[in-house]
Order: sequence, then structure tokens, then C-alpha cells
Amino acid sequence: MSKVWFITGVTRGMGAKIAKAALASGDKVVATGRQQEAVTKVLGTSDNLFATILDVTREDQVKAAVQAAIERFGRIDVLVNNAGYGHLGVFEETTLEEIRAQYDTNVFGLMTVTHAVIPEMRKQRSGRIINISSVAGLKGVFGGSIYNSSKFAVEGFSQAIAEELAPFGIYVTAVSPGFFRTDFLDSSSVKYSNNAISDYAKALAEFRDFHDNRNHAQAGDPRKLADVILQLAQVEKPPVSFVAGSDGLEWAMIVNKQQKEQLDAWRNLSVSTDGTW
Ligand SMILES: NC(=O)c1ccc[n+]([C@@H]2O[C@H](COP(=O)([O-])OP(=O)(O)OC[C@H]3O[C@@H](n4cnc5c(N)ncnc54)[C@H](OP(=O)(O)O)[C@@H]3O)[C@@H](O)[C@H]2O)c1
Repeated sequence: MSKVWFITGVTRGMGAKIAKAALASGDKVVATGRQQEAVTKVLGTSDNLFATILDVTREDQVKAAVQAAIERFGRIDVLVNNAGYGHLGVFEETTLEEIRAQYDTNVFGLMTVTHAVIPEMRKQRSGRIINISSVAGLKGVFGGSIYNSSKFAVEGFSQAIAEELAPFGIYVTAVSPGFFRTDFLDSSSVKYSNNAISDYAKALAEFRDFHDNRNHAQAGDPRKLADVILQLAQVEKPPVSFVAGSDGLEWAMIVNKQQKEQLDAWRNLSVSTDGTW
């Protein structure tokens, strides 16, 4: 049976590829983006496609888009929370406004959409929620404090609601990609702060070079990721956490190993706080 997808941020990158793959498989897609014309420019028009405006930071647009989706297709089977961007750079140089903006999109936007869609899925007693996180949500690194922490929030949120929603047949998966070839590292998407502090200049220049050199040269293929997401939406019991790409997998293994080594190294001090009463 064909599914109804609701996807955020389909105007470019992974969102566009996921929407195209779902349409190609014969499913119906509610394709949303900040510019409605950009959505139809990328996806064209068809009976199976409902394009609508949705900036995930706008609660009014979220509610209207979810309601319009139900009116058009009657249900939502798969929610893909894809919309997001990276605010990179050192924490001290980042303004509070920039921090809030990152969270408004990557965290509160994702939660607002999820909040609006869950009641429909709960009524249906079925659904899939796929949250596009990142391997940045597995370990904090220099230059990633804001983006890292926003994706940590996505990971924790996904794990928690997975437990709350499983009894209703709703499965949640946080998908954590490594580097994928989209506009993510392009100046049209990624953001850096402008308050240069000379103490960080050298390390930050190296950090920026590392990322600028990968812009549109990332190893991961977003078309293949889209196919994987279609598979995850079909398997009977999808994973709560899924890492995409060999670079992502290698990073996740390193993080796991380092965490275990650190826990082992400090074991005695950790258990020393147990009460003796
Ligand atoms: N590419 C990677 O290496 C990578 C790795 C790990 C995770 N991710 C995650 O993958 C997701 C998709 O990124 P991408 O790689 O496809 O980057 P992208 O090519 O820059 O696309 C980002 C998409 O998100 C949309 N968007 C941003 N803010 C939005 C908002 N407030 N409301 C609605 N849409 C919004 C953009 O819309 P506009 O066109 O209007 O700007 C665009 O469609 C993000 O959550 C990102 O954090 C990417």
C-alpha cells in the first residue's frame, strides 16, 4: 500500500532527494519548504505531490501544513524532519541570537512539527518518524558547540519519544549521516559568526579550511541515503539510531570506543559515590 510522506526542507539537498525517491516509488508526498515555488521547481507537480510552504520555525505554518496534509491525503505515514543547517565556529564568538536561531530550526522546529504530527499518527495507531540528526550529535568537537549540541538534542529527543510512541505502532529513528554531498557546507547554508577573537584565529582557520575543502566534495551520496530512508520506512522494526556513510560509521565506532575507555579509566571514582547507609 502506498504511504503518505511529510517531509521538511525539500527545496535542496537530502530533503529533495528523499521526496523524489518517495514519489518515484509511487508514494504520496507532502513536500514542504520555506519557499513554495522552490519546492515545485525541484519536484514539479503531480497528483501524488502536495507542495506547501513551511518554515519550521513558524508554528502557524506548521499547524497549517499538517492540517492541509490531512485534508489532502487523509493521513501521514512517514514524517521526515530534515530541515536544518549548521552554525559552526567557536562558542565564544557566537552570539546568543545565533545560538537561538540554530535551536529554533534544528531543535524547536523539529519538535514543533513532530508535536503537530503525532496526534494523527496516534489516531492511526501507526507511523514512522525519521529525524535527520548527524554524527555531530554523537560527539562534540572544536567548532561544533552549537550545531553539535542541537543534534545531541535531536538524538535524545528521538530516543525518548521512541519509547513513548512504540505502544501505538509509531517507530522513531534518528538518522545520523556523516558528510554528504549537499549544500550543507556551502555559504548558502552553513553559517559562521563574525565576531573574530584573535586567540582562536589559527585553530578556527584550520577548521574552516577543513570544511570549505569538503564543500560539494563529500563522499556520501544523498540519493543513496534517500533510498536507505525508504528502506527504513518499510522495515518492520527500524532502529532507533542509524548511522549513514562509512565515515559516519567509523566516527561512531571511535566515539563508542573512546567512551568505553573513559568509563573504564574512571570506574573506581565513578562508583565511589555510592551511599553506604
Ligand atoms: N550534508 C551533510 O553532510 C549532513 C550531515 C549530517 C546531517 N545533515 C543534516 O541533514 C539535513 C539536511 O541538510 P542538507 O545536507 O540537505 O543541507 P542543504 O542542502 O543545505 O539543505 C538544507 C535544507 O533545509 C532547509 N531549511 C533550513 N532551515 C529551514 C527552516 N527554518 N524551515 C524549513 N526548511 C529549512 C533548506 O531550505 P532553504 O532552501 O529555504 O534554505 C534546505 O532545503 C539537516 O538537518 C542537516 O543538519 C547533513
